[in-house]
Amino acid sequence: MDGPSGTGKSTVSRRLAAAVGAAYLDTGATYRAATLAALRAGLDGSASAEQLVAAANGACIESGTDPDGPTIRLDGDDVAAEIRGGAVTAFVSAVSALPEVRDRLVAAQRAVITAALATHGGIVVEGRDIGTVVAPDAPLKVYLTASDEVRAARRGRQDARAGRGGDVATVLADVRRRDRLDSTRAVSPLHRATDALLVDTDELSAEAVLAELLRLVSERGLLS
Ligand code: DC
Repeated sequence: MDGPSGTGKSTVSRRLAAAVGAAYLDTGATYRAATLAALRAGLDGSASAEQLVAAANGACIESGTDPDGPTIRLDGDDVAAEIRGGAVTAFVSAVSALPEVRDRLVAAQRAVITAALATHGGIVVEGRDIGTVVAPDAPLKVYLTASDEVRAARRGRQDARAGRGGDVATVLADVRRRDRLDSTRAVSPLHRATDALLVDTDELSAEAVLAELLRLVSERGLLS
């Protein structure tokens, strides 16, 4: 499952995984944890690429794949809440653009996928480059889209539920800033794999998207 932020990827990916008994991996959380490692090392936008890579790649990042309670640990700490904060969100595009960080995290993501296929028989993986780079042989690829305004409104509601403020204009500007950075970076930019099915979620509820995904999973013969 690929697509920009605010398309509902996390919600529907988790619900799809839970519905079909698959594991679930949020690759964005791994980039956020690597970014938090850099921040914890005292680094910011003035740091060199070498410093950022050393901090990010020196950290131990562990993803739990239960769709009903996914976890993310940084050096043993549960950082699920901290990685959603403003400091990480503002810095994550810069850290995730570093090729050495991507190489290391993509290898870790593939290891999680291999383990989940062995234990669960399947996994729903969400991110920006899953269909293009991480799992180009995935038996079903979906690319979610929605207009900037709808995505910003969803992000704003999510932030408000988590107790983080932010007016609509600021959230919209941040959504557009991250899209620009994520889709123009040199390595693994966000783009739809040629064989990914496009689902526009502007007019669809999470339930409707989930129903469409379940239909696709079944149509591909992926349910045992
Ligand atoms: O999905 P998210 O908003 O939590 O992702 C955080 C950032 O990580 C996002 O700005 C882009 C980056 N990312 C990436 O480069 N590749 C992925 N597979 C997933 C996320």
